[in-house]
Amino acid sequence: FTTGSLAGKRVVITAGPTREAIDPVRYVSNHSSGKMGYALAQACIEAGARVTLISGPVHLPTPDRVHRLNVNSALDMLAASGKAVDAGCDVFIATAAVADYRPVSVAEHKIKKAGDAMTIELVRNPDIVATMAARADRPFVVGFAAETQNVEAYALSKLRDKKLDMIACNDVSRQDIGFQSDDNAMVIFWNGGSRRLDKAPKTFIARELVSLISQHFSQ
Ligand code: C5P
Repeated sequence: FTTGSLAGKRVVITAGPTREAIDPVRYVSNHSSGKMGYALAQACIEAGARVTLISGPVHLPTPDRVHRLNVNSALDMLAASGKAVDAGCDVFIATAAVADYRPVSVAEHKIKKAGDAMTIELVRNPDIVATMAARADRPFVVGFAAETQNVEAYALSKLRDKKLDMIACNDVSRQDIGFQSDDNAMVIFWNGGSRRLDKAPKTFIARELVSLISQHFSQ
Protein backbone atom coordinates (compact mmCIF):
# COMPACT_ATOMS: atom_id res chain seq x y z
CA PHE A 1 0.00 0.00 0.00
CA THR A 2 1.50 3.33 -1.04
CA THR A 3 0.45 6.94 -0.83
CA GLY A 4 1.67 10.03 -2.66
CA SER A 5 0.99 11.84 -5.90
CA LEU A 6 2.51 9.00 -7.98
CA ALA A 7 1.25 6.12 -5.80
CA GLY A 8 1.79 2.80 -7.56
CA LYS A 9 2.88 4.45 -10.84
CA ARG A 10 5.81 2.93 -12.71
CA VAL A 11 8.48 5.50 -13.55
CA VAL A 12 11.54 4.89 -15.75
CA ILE A 13 14.35 7.46 -15.59
CA THR A 14 17.53 7.69 -17.69
CA ALA A 15 20.44 9.46 -16.01
CA GLY A 16 24.11 10.33 -16.29
CA PRO A 17 26.37 10.38 -19.33
CA THR A 18 26.86 7.63 -21.88
CA ARG A 19 30.30 6.31 -22.83
CA GLU A 20 30.96 5.51 -26.47
CA ALA A 21 33.89 3.14 -26.88
CA ILE A 22 36.71 3.96 -29.29
CA ASP A 23 38.81 0.90 -28.41
CA PRO A 24 39.11 -1.35 -25.32
CA VAL A 25 40.64 1.46 -23.22
CA ARG A 26 39.18 4.73 -24.60
CA TYR A 27 35.80 6.38 -24.98
CA VAL A 28 33.93 9.57 -25.90
CA SER A 29 31.73 10.99 -23.12
CA ASN A 30 30.67 14.21 -21.33
CA HIS A 31 30.64 15.81 -17.86
CA SER A 32 27.12 14.86 -16.77
CA SER A 33 27.11 14.04 -13.03
CA GLY A 34 23.74 12.27 -12.97
CA LYS A 35 22.66 14.35 -9.95
CA MET A 36 19.39 15.61 -11.46
CA GLY A 37 18.26 12.12 -12.51
CA TYR A 38 19.14 10.61 -9.14
CA ALA A 39 17.33 13.44 -7.31
CA LEU A 40 14.28 12.76 -9.49
CA ALA A 41 14.45 9.02 -8.75
CA GLN A 42 14.44 9.84 -5.02
CA ALA A 43 11.55 12.33 -5.40
CA CYS A 44 9.49 9.78 -7.38
CA ILE A 45 10.04 7.16 -4.63
CA GLU A 46 8.88 9.75 -2.05
CA ALA A 47 5.77 10.30 -4.22
CA GLY A 48 4.96 6.58 -4.02
CA ALA A 49 6.18 5.47 -7.46
CA ARG A 50 8.06 2.31 -8.45
CA VAL A 51 11.25 3.54 -10.05
CA THR A 52 13.66 2.00 -12.56
CA LEU A 53 16.79 4.10 -12.98
CA ILE A 54 18.77 3.40 -16.15
CA SER A 55 22.13 4.91 -15.36
CA GLY A 56 25.30 5.67 -17.25
CA PRO A 57 28.56 5.63 -15.25
CA VAL A 58 28.28 8.07 -12.30
CA HIS A 59 29.67 8.34 -8.77
CA LEU A 60 26.37 8.40 -6.87
CA PRO A 61 24.73 6.00 -4.43
CA THR A 62 21.48 4.38 -5.56
CA PRO A 63 18.52 5.88 -3.66
CA ASP A 64 16.67 3.41 -1.41
CA ARG A 65 14.07 1.22 -3.15
CA VAL A 66 15.18 2.33 -6.63
CA HIS A 67 15.79 -0.46 -9.15
CA ARG A 68 19.03 0.59 -10.89
CA LEU A 69 20.26 -0.77 -14.22
CA ASN A 70 23.81 0.20 -15.21
CA VAL A 71 24.63 0.86 -18.85
CA ASN A 72 27.53 2.37 -20.74
CA SER A 73 26.66 3.23 -24.33
CA ALA A 74 23.66 4.99 -25.86
CA LEU A 75 22.74 1.77 -27.67
CA ASP A 76 22.74 -0.09 -24.32
CA MET A 77 20.64 2.69 -22.78
CA LEU A 78 18.16 2.48 -25.66
CA ALA A 79 17.84 -1.31 -25.30
CA ALA A 80 17.40 -1.08 -21.51
CA SER A 81 14.80 1.70 -21.92
CA GLY A 82 12.83 -0.34 -24.48
CA LYS A 83 12.76 -3.36 -22.14
CA ALA A 84 11.76 -1.26 -19.14
CA VAL A 85 8.89 0.35 -21.07
CA ASP A 86 7.85 -3.10 -22.42
CA ALA A 87 7.59 -4.28 -18.81
CA GLY A 88 5.14 -1.44 -18.02
CA CYS A 89 5.80 2.26 -17.63
CA ASP A 90 3.48 5.16 -16.82
CA VAL A 91 6.05 7.97 -16.86
CA PHE A 92 9.38 8.08 -18.74
CA ILE A 93 11.83 10.81 -17.69
CA ALA A 94 14.94 11.36 -19.81
CA THR A 95 17.63 13.23 -17.86
CA ALA A 96 20.57 11.38 -19.42
CA ALA A 97 23.20 13.33 -21.33
CA VAL A 98 23.29 10.86 -24.21
CA ALA A 99 26.31 11.23 -26.50
CA ASP A 100 24.98 12.53 -29.82
CA TYR A 101 27.53 10.48 -31.79
CA ARG A 102 29.49 7.26 -31.33
CA PRO A 103 32.55 5.92 -33.17
CA VAL A 104 31.50 4.09 -36.35
CA SER A 105 33.31 0.99 -35.11
CA VAL A 106 35.07 -0.06 -31.92
CA ALA A 107 38.68 -1.14 -32.53
CA GLU A 108 39.26 -4.67 -31.24
CA HIS A 109 42.70 -3.75 -29.88
CA LYS A 110 44.13 -0.59 -28.36
CA ILE A 111 44.85 1.88 -31.17
CA LYS A 112 48.60 2.58 -31.38
CA LYS A 113 49.85 6.10 -31.94
CA ALA A 114 51.22 6.82 -35.40
CA GLY A 115 51.60 10.12 -37.20
CA ASP A 116 50.80 13.65 -35.95
CA ALA A 117 47.06 13.56 -36.52
CA MET A 118 44.30 11.02 -36.45
CA THR A 119 40.61 10.95 -37.32
CA ILE A 120 37.80 9.07 -35.63
CA GLU A 121 34.64 8.80 -37.68
CA LEU A 122 31.41 9.16 -35.69
CA VAL A 123 27.81 8.23 -36.45
CA ARG A 124 24.66 9.66 -34.93
CA ASN A 125 23.17 7.84 -31.94
CA PRO A 126 19.44 7.09 -31.86
CA ASP A 127 17.28 9.51 -29.86
CA ILE A 128 16.16 7.46 -26.85
CA VAL A 129 13.42 9.74 -25.51
CA ALA A 130 11.95 10.32 -29.01
CA THR A 131 11.94 6.53 -29.57
CA MET A 132 9.94 6.00 -26.35
CA ALA A 133 7.55 8.85 -27.25
CA ALA A 134 6.93 7.31 -30.70
CA ARG A 135 5.60 4.04 -29.26
CA ALA A 136 1.92 3.20 -29.64
CA ASP A 137 1.80 2.40 -25.90
CA ARG A 138 3.69 5.58 -25.01
CA PRO A 139 4.01 6.58 -21.39
CA PHE A 140 3.83 10.23 -20.24
CA VAL A 141 7.20 11.45 -21.54
CA VAL A 142 9.37 14.14 -19.93
CA GLY A 143 12.55 15.41 -21.58
CA PHE A 144 15.32 17.79 -20.56
CA ALA A 145 17.10 20.45 -22.54
CA ALA A 146 20.30 22.35 -21.82
CA GLU A 147 20.53 25.55 -23.81
CA THR A 148 22.73 28.64 -23.66
CA GLN A 149 20.46 30.91 -25.70
CA ASN A 150 16.87 31.16 -27.02
CA VAL A 151 15.89 28.81 -24.20
CA GLU A 152 12.13 29.05 -24.74
CA ALA A 153 12.19 28.72 -28.55
CA TYR A 154 14.48 25.66 -28.48
CA ALA A 155 12.50 24.06 -25.66
CA LEU A 156 9.20 24.44 -27.50
CA SER A 157 10.57 23.03 -30.74
CA LYS A 158 12.06 20.06 -28.83
CA LEU A 159 8.71 19.48 -27.10
CA ARG A 160 7.06 19.29 -30.53
CA ASP A 161 9.77 17.46 -32.53
CA LYS A 162 10.37 14.74 -29.94
CA LYS A 163 6.60 14.52 -29.15
CA LEU A 164 7.23 15.08 -25.43
CA ASP A 165 4.50 15.80 -22.89
CA MET A 166 6.78 18.06 -20.86
CA ILE A 167 10.27 19.51 -21.13
CA ALA A 168 12.50 20.91 -18.39
CA CYS A 169 14.97 23.43 -19.66
CA ASN A 170 18.26 24.40 -17.98
CA ASP A 171 20.17 27.55 -18.87
CA VAL A 172 23.70 26.09 -19.01
CA SER A 173 25.30 29.47 -19.73
CA ARG A 174 24.96 30.13 -15.98
CA GLN A 175 28.06 29.04 -14.02
CA ASP A 176 26.26 28.63 -10.70
CA ILE A 177 23.84 25.87 -11.73
CA GLY A 178 23.50 22.77 -13.88
CA PHE A 179 25.93 19.95 -14.74
CA GLN A 180 28.17 19.21 -11.68
CA SER A 181 26.33 21.61 -9.38
CA ASP A 182 24.06 20.65 -6.47
CA ASP A 183 21.74 23.51 -7.49
CA ASN A 184 19.63 23.99 -10.55
CA ALA A 185 17.08 26.40 -12.00
CA MET A 186 14.81 25.64 -14.89
CA VAL A 187 11.77 26.52 -16.91
CA ILE A 188 9.30 23.72 -17.55
CA PHE A 189 7.08 23.77 -20.64
CA TRP A 190 4.10 21.66 -21.63
CA ASN A 191 1.48 22.14 -24.29
CA GLY A 192 -0.29 25.28 -23.18
CA GLY A 193 1.74 26.28 -20.16
CA SER A 194 5.03 26.84 -18.43
CA ARG A 195 6.48 27.23 -14.96
CA ARG A 196 9.76 28.77 -13.82
CA LEU A 197 11.65 27.13 -10.94
CA ASP A 198 14.20 29.54 -9.46
CA LYS A 199 17.66 28.45 -8.29
CA ALA A 200 17.37 25.82 -5.55
CA PRO A 201 18.98 22.49 -4.53
CA LYS A 202 18.38 19.74 -7.12
CA THR A 203 16.49 17.76 -4.44
CA PHE A 204 13.99 20.63 -4.10
CA ILE A 205 13.71 21.19 -7.87
CA ALA A 206 13.11 17.44 -8.28
CA ARG A 207 10.13 17.48 -5.86
CA GLU A 208 8.59 20.45 -7.65
CA LEU A 209 9.03 18.77 -11.02
CA VAL A 210 7.49 15.52 -9.75
CA SER A 211 4.53 17.49 -8.44
CA LEU A 212 4.03 19.10 -11.88
CA ILE A 213 4.40 15.72 -13.61
CA SER A 214 1.78 14.13 -11.35
CA GLN A 215 -0.68 17.01 -11.99
CA HIS A 216 -0.35 16.78 -15.79
CA PHE A 217 -0.03 13.01 -15.93
CA SER A 218 -3.41 12.52 -14.27
CA GLN A 219 -5.18 14.95 -16.64
O1 C5P B 1 18.32 16.99 -28.46
P1 C5P B 1 18.87 17.14 -27.07
O2 C5P B 1 20.05 16.23 -26.82
O3 C5P B 1 19.11 18.53 -26.63
O4 C5P B 1 17.67 16.60 -26.18
C1 C5P B 1 17.81 16.42 -24.81
C2 C5P B 1 16.76 15.46 -24.33
O5 C5P B 1 16.69 14.31 -25.16
C3 C5P B 1 17.08 14.92 -22.96
O6 C5P B 1 15.86 14.58 -22.34
C4 C5P B 1 17.91 13.68 -23.28
O7 C5P B 1 17.91 12.74 -22.23
C5 C5P B 1 17.19 13.15 -24.51
N1 C5P B 1 18.03 12.44 -25.47
C6 C5P B 1 17.87 11.07 -25.66
N2 C5P B 1 18.62 10.42 -26.60
C7 C5P B 1 19.53 11.08 -27.33
C8 C5P B 1 19.70 12.47 -27.16
C9 C5P B 1 18.95 13.11 -26.21
O8 C5P B 1 17.03 10.45 -24.98
N3 C5P B 1 20.26 10.40 -28.23
